[in-house]
Parts: sequence; C-alpha cells; structure tokens
Amino acid sequence: MSKYLLFTPGPVNVAENLRAAISKEDICHREVDFDQLLVCIEQKLLSLFQITEPKRYRAVVITGSGTAANEAMLSSVVGHGGILILSNGEFGERLHKTSLIHNSPTHLIEVPWGEPFDLQKIERYLERHKIDVIAMVHHETCSGMLNPLAAIGALAKAHKAIFIVDGVSSVGAEAVDMEGCNIAFCSSSSSKAIGSYPGLSFVIGRKKQFKKLKAHKANTTYLNLSTFYHFLKARSQTPNTPAVPLFFALDQALTNILDEGVSRRFAAIRARANQLRDGMRKLNLEFLIDESDMCSVLTTVKVPPSVSVGELRDRLREKAIIIYEGKGCFQDKVFQVGNIGEMSVFDIQFFLQTLKDVLLTLQAEAADVVIPFRPNATMPVNVNIVPIARPNGALKPSSL
Ligand SMILES: Cc1ncc(COP(=O)(O)O)c(C=O)c1O
Repeated sequence: MSKYLLFTPGPVNVAENLRAAISKEDICHREVDFDQLLVCIEQKLLSLFQITEPKRYRAVVITGSGTAANEAMLSSVVGHGGILILSNGEFGERLHKTSLIHNSPTHLIEVPWGEPFDLQKIERYLERHKIDVIAMVHHETCSGMLNPLAAIGALAKAHKAIFIVDGVSSVGAEAVDMEGCNIAFCSSSSSKAIGSYPGLSFVIGRKKQFKKLKAHKANTTYLNLSTFYHFLKARSQTPNTPAVPLFFALDQALTNILDEGVSRRFAAIRARANQLRDGMRKLNLEFLIDESDMCSVLTTVKVPPSVSVGELRDRLREKAIIIYEGKGCFQDKVFQVGNIGEMSVFDIQFFLQTLKDVLLTLQAEAADVVIPFRPNATMPVNVNIVPIARPNGALKPSSL
C-alpha cells in the first residue's frame, strides 16, 4: 500500500508484486543466480523495445538513476570526435552540461524550453560542422514534448553521425524504434514508465557500437559503457556490486509489461493521459504545448490566474495526491500531472474531482484578498462566480 497517489512522471506507485520481488532471497552477484537474473532482464528489455533482431542489440543495466545511464553514454561514446547536443528543455541542458565535462568539442543547438526543433537549421549545422555523435532527449519531461526520433535519426544517418537518445522518461510508454530511427544507444530508467523503484538505469545499444567503445579512452571508472559491455558479454554480470533487490524488482516490472503486452501497455498509458486531459479541459485548464506534441506520460498544465503552484501542490498533498511543479522558466507558471505506474480509472476520477475542489477553494480564498474585481478575468473552473460587494469595495465569489 502507498500513502500517496503519485501523479508524477516518476517515481511511480509500483505494482504489489514488485514489493514481494524486492524482498526476495539474498543472492551473490558473482554467482549463477545473478547471471540468470541479468540474462532475463536483458531479454525482457530487448522485448520491450520490440527489437526484431535481438542478436544485433545488447542492454547493460547500471546501478544508478537515469543520469548515470546518460553520463555513461556521454562519457563513453564520443572519443575524440565532435558531439552535437539538441536541447529544448531542462534535460537537453543537462545532456549538454554533462557532455561539456567529457567531450571537447561539444556543440549545441538550443531552442527555448517547450519549443520544437527546426530540422532545417539542424541539417544546415550538420553540413557545416564535423559531427560524429548527435544526442537528444526523446521526451523532454520539463514540457512534456516528444521530440522527433525518426527525423533526427535520418539526419544523423545522412551525415554519418551516430545517434544517442535519452529515453529516461519515454521508454515503457512510447515506442522507441532503435533500428528504424538509427539509434546507436538509448538510455532509460527503472522508475518511470517501466514502473519499478528508482535506482537502476540501463543503456540499450547496437552490439556493433558497443564493440567499438573499447577504442575510446575511459573517462570514468564507474560509468564506462565498454566495461559494462565486457562484463555482460563475458560473465552476464556487472562490473561493480549491483543493487540486487532492485534488479529483482525491475525483472518483475518488465514481466508485468510483457504479460500485459507492450502495445497494450502503451495504449493503456495513452488512455489514462486522454482521461486526465479530457477532465482537465472540462475544468477550463489550458495545456502548455499542443496535444499533438505531447508524450503520453504526463500533461503540463498552465496554472490558472490567482492560484499559486506551491499552494496547489500542498493542498493536493493533503488529499494524498502528489504532482510536480514546473521548473526553470516554467516555475510558478505550470504544474505537471503524470499518469504512469499503477493508476486506475478511479484514481484519475478522484484526482480530477480533488483538483476541481482545490482550485475552487484556492480561487475563493484568493478572491477574498484580491482587491479589485476584474470582470474580464477568466475563472478556470466551470462554476458560476457571482461577485458580491465586500465592505472594503473588493468583491468575492459567492457560489463556491
Ligand atoms: C528526460 C530525462 N532525462 C534524465 C533524467 C534524470 O533522471 P534521474 O533523475 O533518474 O537521474 C530525467 C528525470 O526526470 C528525465 O526526465
């Protein structure tokens, strides 16, 4: 049982059978029990990616959150080449910051948070610069925007660059076509749409590309992808002591997805997003980006006038609901509602009803202290607000 309903883009409410999985027997990671566990996890990851030629791909699992997998890619893949980071948000910026530590030169094409990339501009940049690796976030979690894997993958192929993808917040909810999008490596994490506990991440990649990594100088000890690949290939193990209980839980989470069916899981997550979006639209809430650009994992919602995001978050927490606040340039402007992990239709109905109640309460409280009544100001929630004259001349909604 969980104290909270996590309407966040990770961590998530986990399935009950993961609680049993995480407390399985004690095993040693240098024994056959762990080798078999890792073999199972790898096979299931390849199935999750719906890879039709599994012999051409491998997946290494890292004890560390999503950033560990991203840093493993960025520190191991580029060598002496040039890397181009495409950034349209917080996590693109983080890729850039990480790459600057490991790779010189690191090139950057940056557009404002929440805006789509200009493909022609990227193409012109690739024509003029020697770029060996292109890195991009698939789902830019700060805005909810799904970036175009196929188009960037095609540009990478045309310019003989390898394409690496941060799939931390999309894998498990959206298809990532490694072959069709020319992706050499893709990272992700255990604790988002895959639905397990935080603490593990992984990198799936083409075997051919994994093999090439040993030509590069190691930039880190712990996050060297080449070492991970070597241990996987030679012994079906990890180079260092892994968080074994989390591996049991990840294995169970992947089994849950495969038992449900990958396409059905994706469809179920999208259906929840639609239920939430329909409900929030009925409350007259507006979304930050166009629905056609959104990932199915979360919805980024503009905060209504006179409501503070922090206050909204606190009031929802009192009702056992956890949401995200916008960060960076979106701080105080948006809130985010995730729909991954264990979540029922009834949880979503409860969320929508609670959100409505809390918004009405907050607006009523704000109206109490707001001085002038603005006849043109839009109220975000579908109720009739009848202004009543206050003794000091201010007005207050009566029908709340
Ligand atoms: C797209 C993306 N990349 C990277 C990360 C970093 O992952 P972690 O916090 O697990 O290190 C996140 C976290 O939300 C993310 O959404």
